[in-house]
Amino acid sequence: MSDQTVVITGVSSGIGRAMAVNFRNHGFKIAGVSRSPAGIDLDLWICADITLEEDRSRIRSEVENSFGSVDILINNAGKGLYATWEEADESELRSLFELNFFALTAMTREFLPMLKKSRGTVINISSMAAQIWIPCMGAYCASKASVSMFSRSLRPELKKYGINVLEVLPGQINTGFSARAMGERRPPDSPGRSAGPERLAESVYRAWKHGDKTLFYPGWMRWAVMIVRGLFSRFYDRRSIKIWNLGE
Ligand SMILES: NC(=O)c1ccc[n+]([C@@H]2O[C@H](COP(=O)([O-])OP(=O)(O)OC[C@H]3O[C@@H](n4cnc5c(N)ncnc54)[C@H](OP(=O)(O)O)[C@@H]3O)[C@@H](O)[C@H]2O)c1
Repeated sequence: MSDQTVVITGVSSGIGRAMAVNFRNHGFKIAGVSRSPAGIDLDLWICADITLEEDRSRIRSEVENSFGSVDILINNAGKGLYATWEEADESELRSLFELNFFALTAMTREFLPMLKKSRGTVINISSMAAQIWIPCMGAYCASKASVSMFSRSLRPELKKYGINVLEVLPGQINTGFSARAMGERRPPDSPGRSAGPERLAESVYRAWKHGDKTLFYPGWMRWAVMIVRGLFSRFYDRRSIKIWNLGE
């Protein structure tokens, strides 16, 4: 059993919930954050909207009062937007970046003093969409590319404090994420191609344990994306136009 504490945003469903269950099974104390009830056993559940400054500082003080320290902060809460750049309105774009990027960076800064004391880890849930453009998901790709660049530049900045930053880039995971996304469009069906969040959660735990910097999940997709991006971008664009119905 570990006496370490993990703070996870977005524990009421999907990947966040699976990570909360998994880390708890590994003996960690879990403080989970979401706006709707988590529906799982946690040591502390905080009902909060992480896009609000007052909620973020309340999360920090509730965690500090309950546990006194934090070893891992997992910035997981996020949402999608399925729209072309032409269709997406300004308020949707701002709301996407408010949650996926600004809230994530602010949560990290909120917990830095505690993470410095524990020489802990920041785990940021980015996406494989940060690695390659996807039409009708361009804003989401951009928000996750921001998360990846935040993570990669933060790591050397925090090295002197003994804090590691683990960037996680999942491919498609079956969580109902698309159904909850903003925008009118929906991704084309890809039956059987998305994995459940439980195995990803165990991979995140192992990557943390090994002190890894990056986790691509599934691992093969990292190379597939690099090859497509580097060698087959024209073919990829033509195919994207077809599957997203972007032809004339
Ligand atoms: N599913 C995928 O295919 C996939 C692939 C790559 C990366 N990701 C990333 O993985 C993360 C989790 O995705 P998921 O598929 O598990 O999504 P999900 O099932 O929709 O879960 C999102 C979680 O974020 C919470 N949340 C949303 N807005 C919030 C807010 N303002 N304040 C606090 N919590 C908030 C939601 O809880 P409440 O609504 O109760 O607040 C929910 O618990 C996201 O960052 C996503 O971009 C997902």
